[in-house]
Amino acid sequence: METSVLFSPGKIGPLTIRNRTIRAAAFESMCPGNAPSDMLYDYHTSVAAGGIGMTTIAYAAVTQSGLSFERQLWLRPEIIPGLKRITDAIHKEGAAASIQMGHCGNMSHKSICGCMPISASSGFNLYSPTFVRGMKASELSAMAKAYGQSVHMAREAGMDAVEIHAGHGYLISQFLSPYTNHRKDEYGGSLQNRMRFMRMCMDEVMKAAGSDMAVLVKMNMRDGFKSGMGIYETLEVGRVLQDECGAHALILSGGFVSRAPMYVMRGAMPVSTMSYYMPFGWLPPFVRYFGKWVIPTVPFKEAYFLEDALQFRKALTLPLVYVGGLVSREKIDEVLGHGFEFVSMARALLNEPDFVNRMKQEGDARCDCGHSNYCIARMYSLEMACHKKMEDLPKRIVREIEKYEYK
Ligand SMILES: Cc1cc2nc3c(=O)[nH]c(=O)nc-3n(C[C@H](O)[C@H](O)[C@H](O)COP(=O)(O)O)c2cc1C
Ligand code: SF4
Repeated sequence: METSVLFSPGKIGPLTIRNRTIRAAAFESMCPGNAPSDMLYDYHTSVAAGGIGMTTIAYAAVTQSGLSFERQLWLRPEIIPGLKRITDAIHKEGAAASIQMGHCGNMSHKSICGCMPISASSGFNLYSPTFVRGMKASELSAMAKAYGQSVHMAREAGMDAVEIHAGHGYLISQFLSPYTNHRKDEYGGSLQNRMRFMRMCMDEVMKAAGSDMAVLVKMNMRDGFKSGMGIYETLEVGRVLQDECGAHALILSGGFVSRAPMYVMRGAMPVSTMSYYMPFGWLPPFVRYFGKWVIPTVPFKEAYFLEDALQFRKALTLPLVYVGGLVSREKIDEVLGHGFEFVSMARALLNEPDFVNRMKQEGDARCDCGHSNYCIARMYSLEMACHKKMEDLPKRIVREIEKYEYK
């Protein structure tokens, strides 16, 4: 007898999803000119055809200043028809469509975002590397409204849900974290103050979402380093999102791209591969020779966020989405058995877009992702791809990937 809820429908706010799987927001790098492309269409259609409950188009910037990559979506009226073509195709396959929206804050460069990157506080971000301008209090309401306007555009584009990126050290997370928020006004200092900008964004988002769109929030359970947020504070963020902001579901993640990037994905960053795909300049040799120290390895294990996520499950009642290191049906059933309503996967579906359908047929299905993180190293200049689907990779890359696979 089938005891798993994996292939039963689940609800997030007003939305019913055909099963409990979500394709996690994972930057596709398939949007030249910051607009959807045929590649983006093909990838999301293939995941929808592969049985996913809901697929998430990744990381659309709510303003131009929020762009961190050249080939990243920027939500604006002229791209709505292109997105609608994609959501129509996703729906035709029986899946729901969501879009992650956010702002990169300090993780950009003038050449990409068109201005000096902004954040909660001024400073220097080694990640880009760039000087950063702290936002004036008078600018915050317009930024929050940009989130609301993006939700309206998502609806016009046929999205069933929106996902607000409040984790991983992007703008909302930069306000939440004491590591990047040194403000002396009502947006800095206490946790209540650091949450104020997130609340403003959520007010606009929930107003715009009305009664027909689902709102998910991706948040950190830990920033992943000593001076960042810990679980004591993030549990309160989760409670506020549930009880005061009215979010319909939380996606529980962790890590801070500019300070603890591998805490998000675990494993090693293949720095030689990363430098190979970076544009020319001084950065590629720097990354190749010093990357190991700047981007330290964090050991991988299946379902690596489960322990922390269980604390959220105990404290909160809204639907929770588990993400992080799911590669087998067995572990997915275990996670769902703990009371998480949904599971979300990025690399498993990059490695095998129809992994969900295979899980339906094989009770012990396991995908072949070896968490070498080639796909992450590559995304700085090329479209998302799994090395297992590629031929003729340079020997230097093959050697490095072999060193890190399944470690
Ligand atoms: C290529 C790639 C790009 C990613 N881009 C994003 C992103 O745009 N937004 C986000 O919230 N997380 C991003 N992530 C993180 C994933 O959503 C997910 O949280 C993480 O990979 C852990 O899940 P997994 O073990 O199923 O891959 C990315 C991951 C990968 C592999
Ligand atoms: S490139 Fe590596 S880490 Fe990424 S999906 Fe493929 S096997 Fe997994």
